[in-house]
Amino acid sequence: MIASSARIWGYDTNFGSFSQFCVAQEHQILPKADHLTWEQAAASTLVGTTAYRMLFGWRGNELRQGDIVLVWGGSGGVGSQAIQLARAKGALPVAVVSDPAKGAYCERIGAVGWINRKDYTHWGIPPRWDDVDGQRHWMAEARRFGKRLWEVVGEKRNPAIVIEHPGEDTVPTSIFVCEEGGMVVICAGTSGYDAVVDLRYHWTRQKRFQGSHGANDEQAVAYNDMIKSESIHPSLARVLRFEEIPRAHDEMGRGLAPAGNTAILVCAPEPGLGRR
Ligand SMILES: NC(=O)c1ccc[n+]([C@@H]2O[C@H](COP(=O)([O-])OP(=O)(O)OC[C@H]3O[C@@H](n4cnc5c(N)ncnc54)[C@H](OP(=O)(O)O)[C@@H]3O)[C@@H](O)[C@H]2O)c1
Repeated sequence: MIASSARIWGYDTNFGSFSQFCVAQEHQILPKADHLTWEQAAASTLVGTTAYRMLFGWRGNELRQGDIVLVWGGSGGVGSQAIQLARAKGALPVAVVSDPAKGAYCERIGAVGWINRKDYTHWGIPPRWDDVDGQRHWMAEARRFGKRLWEVVGEKRNPAIVIEHPGEDTVPTSIFVCEEGGMVVICAGTSGYDAVVDLRYHWTRQKRFQGSHGANDEQAVAYNDMIKSESIHPSLARVLRFEEIPRAHDEMGRGLAPAGNTAILVCAPEPGLGRR
């Protein structure tokens, strides 16, 4: 994925994957798990392989059994896959969500607990380091968030890996709560791209801030094998028609999408094709 020629199909190339047929290279095709419908199989491969690379793809910071993992947007696409992958590895995923119903969903798929981000007020770019009052408020909120994390895991231990994608709103907190020598790994900047980091925590505690994009062939196959063996599930929440794509985007943008993944039917299933 680091080669300058590497591209994510449908994202870095050809403006989307909304087509009934396409030409693909052989290594881009993975066998569909027999127990899944086409919709289920389509739902999670992008977010799941991305989460797999984030958790297991960065030498020196690969997820280990017993590690704590903080997962932003735990009930979303990347989050629901990261929680299951972490649990399957014997790690302890803690979800961050914006309401209790999403928290309960995260627990059902393997999170040891959840934090409601709406209970805190320090999101976004923090005040400058020399703004004493602003820093006091920011630090009090970040510490309160960190304490809640300890309560959820039942001990004073910080996350070895933080699964990041909101970006601007959350990166300062991610770096703050990550354990010494741990890694904040990021695949998007949904809330904005100006991620401000207090470098004192970053360098003295030797934390890693790692960008991650897509997955390589080996990681995609490893992820698909876990789906095929039913160690993890695609978390398909709903199936919408092609005409309903604007609705799906609108609900996603306003935080109203149901927990898990949405699949879109590019065309109506052909009679006799069968669900599998
Ligand atoms: N680079 C890659 O290879 C790659 C691959 C896949 C996806 N992505 C990107 O990763 C991002 C997430 O994808 P997804 O499929 O997981 O999206 P999703 O299903 O919409 O989930 C995103 C979650 O983020 C949370 N969230 C929204 N605003 C937030 C904020 N301000 N602070 C904290 N959390 C917030 C929401 O949960 P709560 O409201 O409950 O907190 C939401 O469930 C997208 O930008 C996507 O394009 C990148």
